[in-house]
Amino acid sequence: MSVNLETSYLGMTLSSPLVVAASPLGRRLGNLRRLEEAGAAALVLPSLFEEQIEHDSYQTHAVLEAGAGVYQEAARGYLPEAPEGYVNGSDRYLALLGEARQALKIPVIASLNGASTGGWVEYAHKMEDAGASALELNVYFVAADPDETGEQVERRYLDLVAAVRGAVQLPLAVKVGAYFSSMANMARRLVAAGADGLVLFNRFYQPDIDIEDLKVRSNVELSSSAELRLPLRWIAILKGRVEASLAATTGVHTTADVLKLVMAGADVAMSASALLRHGPDWLTKVRAEMAAWMEEHEYESVEQMKGSMSQRAADDPAAFERANYMETLITYATPTL
Ligand SMILES: Cc1cc2nc3c(=O)[nH]c(=O)nc-3n(C[C@H](O)[C@H](O)[C@H](O)COP(=O)(O)O)c2cc1C
Repeated sequence: MSVNLETSYLGMTLSSPLVVAASPLGRRLGNLRRLEEAGAAALVLPSLFEEQIEHDSYQTHAVLEAGAGVYQEAARGYLPEAPEGYVNGSDRYLALLGEARQALKIPVIASLNGASTGGWVEYAHKMEDAGASALELNVYFVAADPDETGEQVERRYLDLVAAVRGAVQLPLAVKVGAYFSSMANMARRLVAAGADGLVLFNRFYQPDIDIEDLKVRSNVELSSSAELRLPLRWIAILKGRVEASLAATTGVHTTADVLKLVMAGADVAMSASALLRHGPDWLTKVRAEMAAWMEEHEYESVEQMKGSMSQRAADDPAAFERANYMETLITYATPTL
């Protein structure tokens, strides 16, 4: 019996649930090719950041302004063309996206990062023109203003999703963190605002303090499987309750991690840290192990397994909420000191 690993995500049929999350691996076309060869079913390019776009347009403006001071024509209100060969960060991004779509058979998902609506939303449209298979909106926003209410923060997200939705026809996934008072309600509202899929969860990098140099450090620490439980819980809770694709990100390191996520209800499992640590062969290994495990346990397909352990399907739905909180804590073995 051969196992069918196909899954659907954002209306696309993928050969398996193994998707490459946004990371620096996606900055080179050669890497993207290697990831496809190794078995990636789709990949997300690293984000084009709101600040990059604003910085680009500031620089372009500065270059043009500098010209305006020099050329005679400028005095008459003529702005010179940008210097020949001038390519800004967003141009490079769009070029890589176009090349990747030409070179690869698997879907290439572009990613936009932002925290506010602005002129940069037009880049969603440019990504669509450059051939993106879908768009992932990576909303990274630390709500640090004590005067901003939870409702205002949520409104930012929803307005942003609605603005991007208005700019493109592409399938739209929204990647968010887990820090909402009512995650399930927010998930529904994101979908109502136009998200076709939710990517759960963004991993907010926490700053550290160097006590010798008295500097704030913000280096990236790769994740571990222990972090899987947050997306696992929420995917299990949301499966069947929101009309959207569900992607899991954070803590996907082993074959068991991917299987658990699919059982919880994930359409795809995205990985960055494991691929940065082990390289593309990780995909080949996990794909083969997944198929072998499913065959051994008599699953015919990913679709059959999908959501089989979601909260709605589980024998003990309360296990995903508070009910076993006390039991979990009091059954921890008492250490002898
Ligand atoms: C070095 C690095 C760069 C990343 N860059 C992006 C990015 O540009 N856009 C984005 O949405 N996520 C980015 N991420 C987050 C990953 O896509 C992923 O969601 C996160 O690392 C959790 O998955 P993991 O546990 O597999 O690492 C980055 C992660 C790492 C480690």
